[in-house]
Amino acid sequence: MQKKTQTRLFHFLIFMHMKWHKIPSAALTSSAAIQLLRIDGKAFCLVNDHGEWYATSAKCPHAGANLGEGWCEQGQLVCPYHRHHFDLSIGKGAPGQYNAVRVYPLEWRDNELYIQLPQSLWQKCLSLLK
Ligand code: FES
Repeated sequence: MQKKTQTRLFHFLIFMHMKWHKIPSAALTSSAAIQLLRIDGKAFCLVNDHGEWYATSAKCPHAGANLGEGWCEQGQLVCPYHRHHFDLSIGKGAPGQYNAVRVYPLEWRDNELYIQLPQSLWQKCLSLLK
């Protein structure tokens, strides 16, 4: 299989397993800048940096720290353990870190915030049976 076809197949499979979820309204009124949330079994960090919302992985790619205990600095999420910095918009780590966090898409619909999260193949199969 050619590399281009493999890449397209990979993106198709990823797209097939993504699902939009409504974020609980209580999370949107919280004064916390970073909240560790779990929806449909998937944990993520919901970040409010000066009124802008972001969603990232819950664990740091360096050594697995809980990023929900981190903080924001100049548009970056800072890990509480060894202070790696991650760009909140794209997830990329600061130069020299050679790592990144995953950033999940967020979308406003009728004053409700939605997040697109990966769905396990098992969950996808169950939803097809309903
Ligand atoms: S665990 Fe996050 S920087 Fe080390």
